[in-house]
Amino acid sequence: MDMGLAGKVAIVTGGGRGIGAAICKALAAEGAHIVANDIDRARAEETGAELTAGGAKAIAVAGDITRAEDAEALAKAALDAFGRIDILVNNAGFTRDGRITKMTEDDWDSVVDVILKGTFLCTRAVIPAMTEQKSGRIVNIASRAHWGNPGQANYSAAKAGVVGFTRSQAAEHGRNNITVNAVAPGFVETPLVQALPHYEKIKQRTIDNTPIPRLGRVEDIADAVTFLASERASWITGELLHVTGGRYRG
Ligand SMILES: NC(=O)c1ccc[n+]([C@@H]2O[C@H](COP(=O)([O-])OP(=O)(O)OC[C@H]3O[C@@H](n4cnc5c(N)ncnc54)[C@H](O)[C@@H]3O)[C@@H](O)[C@H]2O)c1
Repeated sequence: MDMGLAGKVAIVTGGGRGIGAAICKALAAEGAHIVANDIDRARAEETGAELTAGGAKAIAVAGDITRAEDAEALAKAALDAFGRIDILVNNAGFTRDGRITKMTEDDWDSVVDVILKGTFLCTRAVIPAMTEQKSGRIVNIASRAHWGNPGQANYSAAKAGVVGFTRSQAAEHGRNNITVNAVAPGFVETPLVQALPHYEKIKQRTIDNTPIPRLGRVEDIADAVTFLASERASWITGELLHVTGGRYRG
C-alpha cells in the first residue's frame, strides 16, 4: 500500500530515542523528511545522523518543548529546511511516579508540563503552516495510563488531558483538512520503562494481563503512527488508537 508519505515533512518530538526514534525511522522508510527534536542534543543528532546515513533527508533540532520559544523555533527550523510541515508527532514525555502523598509539586509540574503543555505549544506552533497548506496530520502519543494507573496521578492526568486535547483539536481543524489523532501505547520496552523501580515486576504483570502476551515493541507504536500520519487515514480524526496487545484496564 502506498502511504503517500514520500516528500512529506514530519516533526517528531522526543525523537532521540525509544518510541520517538522508531517513529522517525518508520516515517523516513516511507520517504518522509524528518525533523528530529529532543531536549538532549546528542540524542537528536544521533537519530538525524542515522537517518541521513540511511539515505533519508533529516535534520536534528535540540529544544525543550515546554518552552514556547523552543516550540516556535522547531517549527521554523522545519520550514527553513524543507519549506512545509505536513506531520507533527507529539511524542516527548516521561514519568515521575509516586503515590499522591509522596508526589511533589515538581513531580506534578514537570510531567504535566512536558506531556500536556509541550503538546499544546508544538501544536500551536505548526497549525499556521498546516492551515495555510490546507493539510496536516498531528499524532499525539497518549498512553494506556489515561484510564488511571495507581502511582501515576501526574502521568495519567496528563495523558487523559492529551486525549481531550486531541478531540478538541480534531474539531477545530477538520475543515482545513488537518487530522488530529492519538495513539495509546501499552507497556513498550524502552529506556523510559527500563528505568522504573519495579521494572521486572511490571513487565511480568503486563505479560500476564495482555491477551497477546508480550511487551510492546517500539515498531508496534511507530507503525500505528505511520498509518495515522499517512494519506490512507485522511477521514480519521479525533480517534484514540490503543496499541496495547489487547490490554485495556487492569
Ligand atoms: N514506553 C512505554 O511503555 C510507553 C507507554 C505509553 C506511552 N509512552 C509514551 O511514549 C512517549 C515516548 O516514550 P519512550 O518510552 O520512548 O521514552 P524515552 O525516555 O525512551 O524517550 C523520550 C524522549 O523524549 C525526550 N524528552 C523528554 N523531555 C523532553 C522535552 N521537554 N523536550 C524535548 N524532548 C524531551 C527525552 O530526552 C527522550 O529522548 C512518551 O510520551 C511516553 O509517555 C511510553
